[in-house]
Amino acid sequence: MKLFFTLLIITNALYANIENGKDVYIQNCANCHSVNMRGGMGPDFNIVSYSHKKADIAKYISSPSTMFRSFGYTSNAMPELPLSPQEIKDVSEYIDSLQPFKKWMKK
Ligand code: HEC
Repeated sequence: MKLFFTLLIITNALYANIENGKDVYIQNCANCHSVNMRGGMGPDFNIVSYSHKKADIAKYISSPSTMFRSFGYTSNAMPELPLSPQEIKDVSEYIDSLQPFKKWMKK
């Protein structure tokens, strides 16, 4: 029973992060990134979720200008946004949750 409640608390906390991350997305990213393959200036987050690890996504958001080359871009049009470390964590959690199956899981 104790384990059940511990798991419940962990699941709830994670879910709260994802929900909060969705708000961060709507307010700061939706102008340039879609989540329904509608397109935009930056890549759709379903693709990002599928092709990049959560930690790398977080790194990109904190510093696009130093990360764009390692993601295969030749130029950088994404600005560095004034987000708190928690907001970056939450929005990365949200992006990561969009696609449960990842590219690097394939053999
Ligand atoms: C002004 C438009 C703009 C805004 C706002 C913006 N981005 Fe971007 N983003 C881009 C563009 C354009 C790229 C393509 C690479 C580049 O120019 O840096 C990109 C690339 C990315 C990438 C790398 C994706 C990949 O797989 O290649 C991530 C991750 C990302 N953005 C996350 C975010 C998040 C999270 C937010 C909101 C907190 C955000 N972006 C807000 C324009 C934007």
